[in-house]
Amino acid sequence: MEKQFYVNGEWKSSEKMVDLHSPHTKEVIAQIPQATREEVDQAIDVAYDARKQMAELTAYERAAILEHITQLFIENRNRAAKIISSEAAKPMKYALGEIDRTIETYKFAAEEAKRLTGELIPMDAAKNGANRFGYTIEQPIGVIGAITPFNFPQNLVAHKVGPAIAAGNTIVLKPASQTPLSALFLAELIDQTALPKGAFNVVTGSGKTVGDALVESDKVKMITFTGSPAVGKGIRDKAGLKKVALELGSNAGLIIDKNVDLSQIVPKCVMGAFSNQGQVCISLQRTYVMDELFEEFIHQFSALTKELVIGNPLEETTDIAAMINPGEQERALSWVQEAVEHGAEIVAGGTTENGVFMPTILTNVSPTSKVSCQEVFAPIVVVNRISSIEEGINAINDSNYGLQAGVFTNDIQTAFKVSKELEVGGVMINDIPTYRIDQMPYGGVKESGTGKEGLKYAIHEMTETKLVVWNQQ
Ligand code: SIN
Repeated sequence: MEKQFYVNGEWKSSEKMVDLHSPHTKEVIAQIPQATREEVDQAIDVAYDARKQMAELTAYERAAILEHITQLFIENRNRAAKIISSEAAKPMKYALGEIDRTIETYKFAAEEAKRLTGELIPMDAAKNGANRFGYTIEQPIGVIGAITPFNFPQNLVAHKVGPAIAAGNTIVLKPASQTPLSALFLAELIDQTALPKGAFNVVTGSGKTVGDALVESDKVKMITFTGSPAVGKGIRDKAGLKKVALELGSNAGLIIDKNVDLSQIVPKCVMGAFSNQGQVCISLQRTYVMDELFEEFIHQFSALTKELVIGNPLEETTDIAAMINPGEQERALSWVQEAVEHGAEIVAGGTTENGVFMPTILTNVSPTSKVSCQEVFAPIVVVNRISSIEEGINAINDSNYGLQAGVFTNDIQTAFKVSKELEVGGVMINDIPTYRIDQMPYGGVKESGTGKEGLKYAIHEMTETKLVVWNQQ
């Protein structure tokens, strides 16, 4: 099926097309246009020209458009989930969950559009501020270049498109090369709304051509990117004075204290480590379990992991399917081999069966093995033994990343200590680091990125604060 990209409310063909393969069957499921630099520049020009019309929409009108998008996703829930499942091999149960989150994301964006306010400045608090009245207004920033990843091809797009519309900006979206169909489906939905033509554009093609054009254009005022630290750093280096929001990777860690009820915790850990084949920025990658519970945790965790249903992502009973491409599976396999060479033991998985990388649990893992110190982005989890909470905190902080972390404990002092000392953007007490709902602030420290998502926070990143001061004379 030949696809077209979407600019100025029109569908466009391109001379160059590439085949899109199902990660599960490896069959061609679509042909995707590869925009040229000129075509990307045209999309940027269109978004630039639409800025004024978009900025003049009232909060009521912007919220109504976002509510309409929400409604269209409710009506197309199954179809949208099936597209995700086909192009990303995300098991249907998780793809449906992603659409439910997408619905909430656009709903929160609609609500936040109505709450976009500035503040009154107490001018007379300064010696020279008497008889002045000051306030701020939040103005749209202009054209936003959004570059999105394959792992949540609808909801991580929503985290960029929703706040951009709520703030009155225009957008050029470059979806991941592996998952353009979800973004093109969003364009079909947005086309049915009252969003001004040119305010939302989707351009498909290579990161080199489309991504570079967005990052290098003077007309694009902000880049919002989710993806790898290497690409994120490249964007920051080339972005000049543009605003840049970067949601990068992590090797998320969890501490399990003694005296907790493992029967409640283990199912969450299985979900946190293996949902979407571990291809989640906050996937549970490193687990540090206190001595007292270590053996029992390994026993329960491996037993439940071995029950996961491996198979076709389009079937709702499937838990685990193929990773995004065979190259990624090869990489994951080589990282497991390296860990074993460094002394790790395989408790479960560690192999590929029928084209699927099996959910893998490793123990006794060296902190210098890639599966521990780099972002694994695969269904691999490290479980190591600790003899104190400090040891767990130090192990989690011994990382270039810091997105989210978790602790299970029944000790309130431990909970306070851990939340204070972990060097991450978000600490989950009595939950896995993978926990996310869409209005909460989400973003990391260190190489996990800069800026926060979560509608209210992303909208703030996507506006300029303007000060107005009246002299009452
Ligand atoms: C991510 O992988 O960055 C997003 C995780 C999520 O939204 O649950």
